Amino acid sequence: MKGGATKGDAAKGAAAKGDAVKADAVKADAVQGDLTLPAPREGAADDPGEPLLVVEGLVKHFPVKGGFPIRRTVGAVQAVDGIDLTVNVGESFGLVGESGCGKSTTGRLITRLLEPTSGRITYRGQDISHASRKQLAPIRSEIQMIFQDPYSSLNPRQTVGKIIAGPMEINGIRPSGGREKRVRELLEIVGLNPEHYNRFPHEFSGGQRQRIGVARALALEPKLIVADEPVSALDVSIQAQVVNLLQQVQKDLGIAFLFIAHDLAVVRHFSQRVAVMYLGKVIEVGDRDSIYARPRHPYTHALLSAVPEVDLDGGGETRRERIRLAGDVPSPISPPSGCRFRTRCWKAQDKCAAEEPPLVRISGNRDGHLTACHFPEDPTTGAREEDIVLDPALVALEEGGAEG
Ligand SMILES: Nc1ncnc2c1ncn2[C@@H]1O[C@H](COP(=O)(O)OP(=O)(O)O)[C@@H](O)[C@H]1O
Ligand code: SF4
Ligand SMILES: [Mg+2]
Repeated sequence: MKGGATKGDAAKGAAAKGDAVKADAVKADAVQGDLTLPAPREGAADDPGEPLLVVEGLVKHFPVKGGFPIRRTVGAVQAVDGIDLTVNVGESFGLVGESGCGKSTTGRLITRLLEPTSGRITYRGQDISHASRKQLAPIRSEIQMIFQDPYSSLNPRQTVGKIIAGPMEINGIRPSGGREKRVRELLEIVGLNPEHYNRFPHEFSGGQRQRIGVARALALEPKLIVADEPVSALDVSIQAQVVNLLQQVQKDLGIAFLFIAHDLAVVRHFSQRVAVMYLGKVIEVGDRDSIYARPRHPYTHALLSAVPEVDLDGGGETRRERIRLAGDVPSPISPPSGCRFRTRCWKAQDKCAAEEPPLVRISGNRDGHLTACHFPEDPTTGAREEDIVLDPALVALEEGGAEG
């Protein structure tokens, strides 16, 4: 088990890295007023299992304006409200939850497309929480993003060659043999024909376009890729192909992934560790086997009940009782007191409204499997075959579909 996604682990990781990294952190603090962060120390946090990205108490509130004639801030959308995550070097980390729970906002904060309201984002030992564009320049190439929509994320007026070479041009990178040669190599890596260098995005299918997006993300040899629902917009049979490609890239090139999805089936195939979000909070996190085989939070339980489970201990496929979640997700402008899931939880009691449950390891959980619930579920689940809903994405992944 590669450690949990907690403040505690972040601290442990930082301690493990020793004084040199502390010194780097101090140096990073000292240069807040300068134009650039110091380049990460060569070899710092590069070993597999070492923390690459550490997020502590991350908050993003979007102001809500109202009133007449003078518009004022009357509230805030609490999109992300105090989350802790650690993504280790070369690891694939899954972030799941229903639409609107704050996954994309988290991804955009980490890639610094958004400014956090509070909290801390540390990348390779450097605090990048409020770093400016210029300060981020030395590490900009190391953190890349793959977007959900392969149609709107590629410029229709540029050739594939130009699109993939774009990040190299912006960052002034000249690979040996030239940019065109590198682009052709990248096309090959992502399973596209290098001869299609001069074609335009509209000449490709959705799956092929997402491959172009992957090639563009790989162009700068990143250490971390934030993939925000990279297959959600694709046909089911193509989803499996693109997930397989990402998995291959992650393993072969040793790139860490923050893989964001609302689909637990897709995340299961890709991630070594998984965090489940609900209404701006991480409510459960742990290694993949532990989360899928023994979920303790009622919400994780409900999400998982909608997908068939393959018993990871080798006992074949097992069945879960299907839980139908009642009601809608509450507004992130005025989330429920205490536990945010309490308005939909069948186990809620007075304590759940009065006290927010901390994200902690509860008895019976593996090291690093943390749950935020006052009355967690039993680790074993019931079985009712008639309740099973086969998830088409999962079926395609298990069978391996043909790309269209
Ligand atoms: N720029 C913004 N301004 C105001 N509210 C936003 C903005 N971006 C996202 N939100 C809100 O923040 C919440 C989380 O959104 P998002 O991170 O996109 O969720 P997810 O990716 O999990 O679907 C939603 O309620 C969304 O409406
Ligand atoms: S803390 Fe209470 S309301 Fe929240 S998930 Fe646990 S039992 Fe349900
Ligand atoms: Mg999203």
